[in-house]
Amino acid sequence: MDVYEAIARRQTIRDFAARPVPAEIVHKLLDAGLKAPSNDHLRRWEFVLVQERARREELVRQISAPRTPEGARQVVDEWGLTDPLQREMYIQGIARQYAMILNAGCLIVPCFYYPGDLLRPDSLSALNGLASIWCCVENILVAAAAEGIFGVVRIPFEEERAFMKRFLCLPEHYEIPCSIALGYPAENASRARQVEIRLEDRLHQEQW
Ligand SMILES: Cc1cc2nc3c(=O)[nH]c(=O)nc-3n(C[C@H](O)[C@H](O)[C@H](O)COP(=O)(O)O)c2cc1C
Repeated sequence: MDVYEAIARRQTIRDFAARPVPAEIVHKLLDAGLKAPSNDHLRRWEFVLVQERARREELVRQISAPRTPEGARQVVDEWGLTDPLQREMYIQGIARQYAMILNAGCLIVPCFYYPGDLLRPDSLSALNGLASIWCCVENILVAAAAEGIFGVVRIPFEEERAFMKRFLCLPEHYEIPCSIALGYPAENASRARQVEIRLEDRLHQEQW
C-alpha cells in the first residue's frame, strides 16, 4: 500500500474483533518500528508483548479511569473541555481504557534506553530518547494501518508506569513511553470524528 494511503487510513480504534494478529504480522510491524530514526543511531528499543489474559488483567487493575460513558462525561466536564469533537473523543476513549487493553489482538509495550531522569529533563535534547521511541511507535501504527490493523496508544499514569516496569521486569535505565493495543477493528468499532484541518490555515511562509 502507498505510504500516503496508510497514513490517511490510520485512525485510533479502541474496539477490537476477537481475532488474534498473526505473529508474523506483529513481527513485521515491529521491524517497521525498528526502522525509525533515533537520536543516538543505536535504536536501543525493545518490545514486550503481553498476550496472556491474566497478565493483561493485572495491567488494567492499575488503571483508574471510569468504565462508563456517564463516568467519562463527568471527567470531561471536570476537565472543562468544550470542543464538541474533543469531548466526543474523550468520552469514547476514557470509557474504553480497560477494554482496549484486555481485548486487543496484540498488546505491545515498547521500551527505550534512558539513563537520565525522564521527568526532569534539563534541555530539549535530553528528551531525544523519548522523541525517538515515538518515531518508532508511529512507524508501527502506520505499518499496522497498511495491514488493516488499527489500535491505540495508552500513556500510563505514573504509578501505573512504575508498576509496568516492575511487572514486565524492565532492566535498569529502560523506560516505557506507552502501551500499544492493536488488532482488527470490531464490526461496530467507534471511530472519533476527526477535526478537519486545512494545510493553508497552518502553513506560514518565512515567518509566522
Ligand atoms: C501522545 C499520545 C497519547 C495518547 N494517549 C492516549 C491514551 O492514554 N488513551 C487513549 O485511549 N488514547 C490515547 N491517544 C490516542 C488519541 O486519543 C488519538 O490519537 C487522537 O484522539 C487522534 O485520533 P486519531 O488517532 O484517530 O487520529 C494518545 C495519542 C497520542 C499521540
